Amino acid sequence: MTQLVHGNAELRLAINGLASNICLVPTMGALHEGHAALIKAAKNFVGRDGCVVVSDFVNPKQFGQSEDFKKYPRDLEHDLKVARSSGAHILWAPSVEDVYPGQWPLDIETDPRFEILEGKSRPGHFAAVIEVVTRLFDIVQPNVAVFGEKDFQQLIFITNMANKRDPKIGILAIPTKRDSDGLALSSRNIYLSSDQRNVAHLIPDALKAAVLLASKGFSVRDIKEQVIQTISQSDLISLEYIELLSNDLTPITPGVVGRILIAVKLGDIRLIDNMPILLKENS
Ligand code: PAJ
Repeated sequence: MTQLVHGNAELRLAINGLASNICLVPTMGALHEGHAALIKAAKNFVGRDGCVVVSDFVNPKQFGQSEDFKKYPRDLEHDLKVARSSGAHILWAPSVEDVYPGQWPLDIETDPRFEILEGKSRPGHFAAVIEVVTRLFDIVQPNVAVFGEKDFQQLIFITNMANKRDPKIGILAIPTKRDSDGLALSSRNIYLSSDQRNVAHLIPDALKAAVLLASKGFSVRDIKEQVIQTISQSDLISLEYIELLSNDLTPITPGVVGRILIAVKLGDIRLIDNMPILLKENS
């Protein structure tokens, strides 16, 4: 049974009535199978005596002015169903005042890597993500928190923050859950028209082709060129960036597993994806 709670006091009460091993799954709601995979992993991780808390909070601070905060999908009843069927103990849907109560200054350490990839088109985004996750950690006080590799850049910054601020909190990273054609599940996929949805498989196709080329010893330049060609098979998709980086988002080293990361636009809808990639030693 999943308990739906709102305020922080109500949350504390619900947690205290349960076990000591607390696992937090932070989300912005609009829960899909990707979120469900995180909740199931959390449940597995804490075992019988643990408590899985799913936070459901559309954080206004992490949306840019031109972004979709107002029209971000919200459906608490649906979220409760997904949380319940995935085995969460608590679905916590706080208000803005619960998460940002009055004066609560937080010193967010910035990082030059906040400005690359997603940060380039979303100024202030990662500082806001780190701030809200810090606040969620402070309120829930989890032993473990679960995040998806789908938002790889976010995962790296949150892991860094947790290691520095509270190394007792473990971070569990879960691989990206995909639709049958390979498209990474995302709350934004529902906005795609059927024409856009029909070509969206080109995003994972391009990444898979890149991973294969890398394994054959092709250069970063050739790999990027191949991705551009795959994406340009449809004029409904425009490429925003394609980058090959190491797992700490610094330049990639051949012979060491890194990441290929992509952002595209289909009309107004911006989608991101990434996969592990290994460049051959002398490519
Ligand atoms: P949201 O986009 O709701 O994602 C919540 C968590 O689900 C993130 O860790 C994200 O990486 C993971 N996730 C999303 N799609 C996934 C998929 N297809 N497979 C696996 N995991 C997936 O990310 C956020 O919310 C916010 O920035 C948040 C961390 C909650 C802070 O507000």
